[in-house]
Amino acid sequence: MTEPTITRATEADLPFVMATERREGYGALVGRWEESRHRAALRDGRHAYFIGHAGADPIGFAILRDWASEERVTLIKRIAVRDPGQGWGRRFLARVVEAAFHETPAHRLWLGVFPENLRARRAYEAAGFVAEGVARGSAFFGGIHRDELIMAILRPDWEAARGVHPAA
Ligand SMILES: CC(C)(COP(=O)(O)OP(=O)(O)OC[C@H]1O[C@@H](n2cnc3c(N)ncnc32)[C@H](O)[C@@H]1OP(=O)(O)O)[C@@H](O)C(=O)NCCC(=O)NCCS
Repeated sequence: MTEPTITRATEADLPFVMATERREGYGALVGRWEESRHRAALRDGRHAYFIGHAGADPIGFAILRDWASEERVTLIKRIAVRDPGQGWGRRFLARVVEAAFHETPAHRLWLGVFPENLRARRAYEAAGFVAEGVARGSAFFGGIHRDELIMAILRPDWEAARGVHPAA
């Protein structure tokens, strides 16, 4: 399998983002926004959108919130791939994590996942995310308050996994 590459998304990528978040079966797993909300997020300076590519083809997208924040904590707000369960998600996520740690001073990248979304959990674990606990009622999703499993990767863990030694 080739390694995916990533680019920062522009408004031209929104049809792909919106089609991907609306794929069959994704409605119970991941949020979706109307175009106006995406456009606003793309412009607000707080969000960073990434597109994963395999060769010329887009394979998925990720939306990060609190990109380059003063708190050095960034949320992976949403991630979805077009063709799940084929190993793209973990590879794409690894590129996104790398970009966040390279391009910003982030110390912590975190996300919330519905605990029963085992496929996503496995992909996150493969990318180095560690489960920290269940945040009760932390997502208001489809009119229901749902629990989320919080998972995170910290810069020192990421550096250690890559054999990078932080500057003394
Ligand atoms: C979450 C998502 C981005 C992960 O990407 P992906 O390409 O599917 O993930 P990968 O193929 O890299 O890894 C999936 C892992 O789950 C496993 N898996 C696949 N289907 C599974 C299932 N139904 N139950 C449990 N594990 C499953 C795969 O075997 C693989 O693990 P392994 O390699 O250790 O065996 C993707 O599944 C997706 O877009 N899902 C829909 C939207 C979503 O859930 N977004 C996340 C919301 S928090």
